[in-house]
Amino acid sequence: MSLGMTRGFFITFEGLDGSGKSTQLRKLADWLKSEHGDRIVITRQPGGTEVGNRIRELLLDSRTQIAPRAELGLMFSDRAQCIAEVIAPALAEGKIVVCDRFTDSTEAYQGGGRELGSDVVLELHKAICGGLQPDLTLLLLPDFARSLERARRRNGRKAGRGPDENRFEREDEAFFRRVFDKFCEIARREPSRVVVIDGDQDIQQIHDRIVEIVKDRLKGHFHPR
Ligand code: ADP
Ligand code: TYD
Repeated sequence: MSLGMTRGFFITFEGLDGSGKSTQLRKLADWLKSEHGDRIVITRQPGGTEVGNRIRELLLDSRTQIAPRAELGLMFSDRAQCIAEVIAPALAEGKIVVCDRFTDSTEAYQGGGRELGSDVVLELHKAICGGLQPDLTLLLLPDFARSLERARRRNGRKAGRGPDENRFEREDEAFFRRVFDKFCEIARREPSRVVVIDGDQDIQQIHDRIVEIVKDRLKGHFHPR
């Protein structure tokens, strides 16, 4: 999407369940709000819109059986709605958009985890998202076993409270290993967009590193040298 100099800035967070994405997104959002006020728009996938939240319920409910290609289609339906309603208008107004997961998750989970491959995901991205790419993707990569353990502990604490969002968490270790490997492959393929963050440090250290990266990229984007 080429919106020229007036275009806002699009940041996505990626990583396995339990990688610390949501924790870091919240902290970055607070920092951005203190620096840039109401220029900040926060969203997530799946979800982020009314239609998206209904799709999210369907996708994450462990009682639903969804064929891999149907799952793929639903992820893109959700994304298309979020782009139309939230992301594209905000970027056109010059805002900074921060999104919890985007197409890299589809490539990692459906392409890698479900073994549908990257090609179909990238083709759908082009057709459905008009090729919209984040300006910066923060990929949180703690040690593989550690993210699984964190996600399990967190889900254990949440068990029985709120909606059932466990469908993916029930997958086995081999599934998450394929997701992890695909995230690493994406980072190698697109090193200027995707910044890998060592997720094994403590929460504040990771936050400080993220702020440093974001500050630098925003400066380059809004005040090109
Ligand atoms: P995600 O959104 O990637 O699934 P969360 O941000 O919800 O991950 O974090 C999963 C769990 O791990 C939470 O209980 C969170 O408090 C904890 N956590 C997050 N970051 C760290 C970290 N750097 N070190 C230790 N625990 C962490
Ligand atoms: P999320 O709410 O970010 O979960 P978590 O906080 O545990 O990381 O995402 C929900 C689940 O949806 C997560 O297991 C990853 C999965 N997902 C896909 O499989 N494909 C996608 O395109 C997206 C956006 C998410």
